[in-house]
Order: sequence, then structure tokens, then C-alpha cells
Amino acid sequence: MTQTLADMRRDYIRDGLSEDQAPPEPLTLFKSWFTDAVNTEQLPVEPNAMTLATVDADGRPHCRVLLLKGLDDQGFTFFSNYQSAKGEHLLANPFAAMTFFWPTLERQVRIEGRVERVSPAESNAYFQVRPLGSRLGAWASPQSRVIRDRGELEGLLAQAEIRFADEAPECPPHWGGYRLLPERVEFWQGRASRLHDRLDYRRDGEAWLRQRLAP
Ligand SMILES: Cc1cc2nc3c(=O)[nH]c(=O)nc-3n(C[C@H](O)[C@H](O)[C@H](O)COP(=O)(O)O)c2cc1C
Repeated sequence: MTQTLADMRRDYIRDGLSEDQAPPEPLTLFKSWFTDAVNTEQLPVEPNAMTLATVDADGRPHCRVLLLKGLDDQGFTFFSNYQSAKGEHLLANPFAAMTFFWPTLERQVRIEGRVERVSPAESNAYFQVRPLGSRLGAWASPQSRVIRDRGELEGLLAQAEIRFADEAPECPPHWGGYRLLPERVEFWQGRASRLHDRLDYRRDGEAWLRQRLAP
């Protein structure tokens, strides 16, 4: 290793985030930053990839990367297996946090709030636009369960292929969408000398309270 971990650092100089640029509610700013990320981040970075943190019944946190698949005035939608570890956590504790990191833009967005399942109709509408392999995979994979080996997974996929040989797979009951309803959204713009800009929105009844946080 020519560079030690302690020596790894980058100064952030690309942009700033001032109160003048920040609308009274966070979704407009998120959409604007997301558009910037789509236009700026280079492949293979997926701008809609985020880290989702959930907390299990024992109060222990867990996080993993997921893809954001929908955004509207209600909140941030992602899809997964309802029987997965995250699905169990969300049953025990319906609060979660997601973090987006767009390194080229030197930006991070943190979102926190309650999570609810989307309607079966909404899950099915998204399921039907997934490629066939992904739809069969959702039927085949008992996500987060221990499996013997790769062969077991391939066997489960083969069973799903036989089951759906003559009909299009519908959305499995154990699979679907979740929507995080934001209560807090923080925008972080890297600045020089670690004096970053942080604008924090907290839900305040029907409105949003916007405050600057120290970096
Ligand atoms: C780039 C990337 C995108 C992913 N997207 C999803 C996704 O949209 N839904 C999903 O269930 N898992 C997705 N995963 C897999 C999850 O990180 C995780 O392994 C899986 O959901 C099981 O998590 P759990 O055991 O905590 O429930 C993705 C992983 C990566 C690296």
C-alpha cells in the first residue's frame, strides 16, 4: 500500500449550498440534486443507489445498499422481499434511514422517517416492468435465508421457470414496495477544509423547518 488510510483525504471544492438556493421544503431540492447526479455521476455509479438502515427487534442497526425506484410527494419508494431481514426489521420497527452519496458532486443526502408498504397494485405495477429474469428471481430467492450452495438457488430458479413456463409471473405475495415518508432530510455539500454546508429539514406539522447544522 503506497497510501495509508490515515493519509487518504480529498478536499471538497466543487460547490456550496446556501440558504438562498434551498426551497422551503426538501423534495424539490432532492429532485434537483438527483437530476444533477444522473447528469454528472459516471457509470458504473448508480445515482439511485442508497444505503438503507433499519433497526431490528433487539435495537441493533443494519444497513445495506438498495435502489430507489420511486419518488413522489409522499416519499421515497424501494422494492424488496417482505420476508427478508430488512422486512422483519421493518415489521418490528417501522422507522428507517437512507443515505445517498454522490461522490463526483461531493454531496450526501440523509433521509429519515417512517416506512410503510405500498399498495399491492403499486407493487405489481412495478413488478411487471422488471425484466423476466428479475421477476423469476423474486419468486425463487428466499432473500436473507441461509442456503446450502449456489446449486440450491439455481434449483429454486429452475422450479420458478417451470411454474411460469406458460404464464407471466405475477407479483409474489412476499415481495413488494416500501415507501419511506420523510420526517427529516439533510443536504450535505462538501466544502474546503471540512467546513461543509449542511442544511437540515425537519417536518413541522404541514410545513418544514430548515436549519443549518455545523459540519
Ligand atoms: C447496487 C445494489 C443495489 C441493490 N438493490 C437492491 C434492491 O433494490 N432491493 C433489494 O432487496 N436488494 C438490493 N440489493 C441487495 C441488498 O443490498 C441486500 O443484500 C438484500 O436486500 C438483503 O438485505 P437484508 O438481508 O438486510 O434484508 C442491492 C445491492 C446493491 C449492491
